[in-house]
Amino acid sequence: MHLNLNNAHILVTGGAGFMGSAFIRFALKQEAFAGHLSNLDLLTYAGHLENLDSIKGDERYTFFHGDIRDQPLLEKIHEERPITAIVHFAAETHVDRSIIDPDAFIQTNVVGTYKLLEFVRKYPEIHFHHISTDEVYGALGNEGTFTENSPYRPNSPYSASKASSDHLVRSYGMTYKLSTTISHASNNYGPGQYPEKFIPLMIQKILEKKELPVYGAGENIREWLFVEDHARAIWTILDRGKKGEVYNIGGGNEMKNIDLLHLLFEIMKEVTGEKVDEKLIAFVEDRPGHDFRYAMDGAKVEQLGYRPIWPLKAGLRETIRSMKMVCV
Ligand SMILES: NC(=O)c1ccc[n+]([C@@H]2O[C@H](COP(=O)([O-])OP(=O)(O)OC[C@H]3O[C@@H](n4cnc5c(N)ncnc54)[C@H](O)[C@@H]3O)[C@@H](O)[C@H]2O)c1
Repeated sequence: MHLNLNNAHILVTGGAGFMGSAFIRFALKQEAFAGHLSNLDLLTYAGHLENLDSIKGDERYTFFHGDIRDQPLLEKIHEERPITAIVHFAAETHVDRSIIDPDAFIQTNVVGTYKLLEFVRKYPEIHFHHISTDEVYGALGNEGTFTENSPYRPNSPYSASKASSDHLVRSYGMTYKLSTTISHASNNYGPGQYPEKFIPLMIQKILEKKELPVYGAGENIREWLFVEDHARAIWTILDRGKKGEVYNIGGGNEMKNIDLLHLLFEIMKEVTGEKVDEKLIAFVEDRPGHDFRYAMDGAKVEQLGYRPIWPLKAGLRETIRSMKMVCV
């Protein structure tokens, strides 16, 4: 993409969240990186600056507390240090919350992305990378995978808001000839994820010996991607991807929720020495519009030289260890 990544000023939106913070930690670990990372985050319930404790004092990093919809703040950041690329993670992300109250999802995911794109329209030298999800493609049956050409079929207000933002990004690329890329990732897991998502929720409840709510019969299938692998994939796209392209990023680990829970029990026993009481599993009424299965065809991003390197068990062990340190 000719970004000269190692000297770039990258504005990360939502960098106090789960994946944005992993991306910042990953970028600052690149020894050749002599550029700068600015993190613009509103610090909603999902944003936690403790996710960035390990990079405290790094002079290649600055935090800006604010909203992605705040144009004067974007201008200020750009004036202080011209932005080379925006990597846009900031979003409302929890499907269940979007079912109860979609408003914040429209405001941040749709209007917020639109405001960022308007900003880039004013400064077309800035590259815009948009973080999207596999959920925009809807649900799969037992067979097949999503490719970059799969049709959009969002089934929740969350995935519909992400789909809307994807379309805005594409249209700004086509209409205004802006430099944009989009990546769709499968379910991420790892340290620093807010415990409303399946894996950290289950780990937290296991550690507290509380009931483990599982939707339906736990038959839904997800593909799991360790968050550091995701960060590496985004870095690869920024470095070697092609302007205007879309990339799917999968983790290669497909599993039924109930099987994943049993795997967690196994690793939990290894890490804590305690056997989990399986009677804590409580099957609860299924989520409305619950997608049965997601799975990604990651061949295109792999052509850029990216491969996920974290085996599922190792990633889960790392996640449990990070939560155990916080919870006990
Ligand atoms: N978590 C997953 O499994 C997954 C998978 C695929 C794609 N995604 C996408 O990746 C991105 C990041 O997901 P995550 O799980 O890290 O999210 P998260 O919920 O952990 O973090 C979101 C961050 O955005 C910030 N934010 C929210 N509204 C904002 C606003 N108006 N202005 C500035 N900051 C704001 C929050 O404070 C928080 O720090 C999202 O776009 C999500 O749709 C997530």
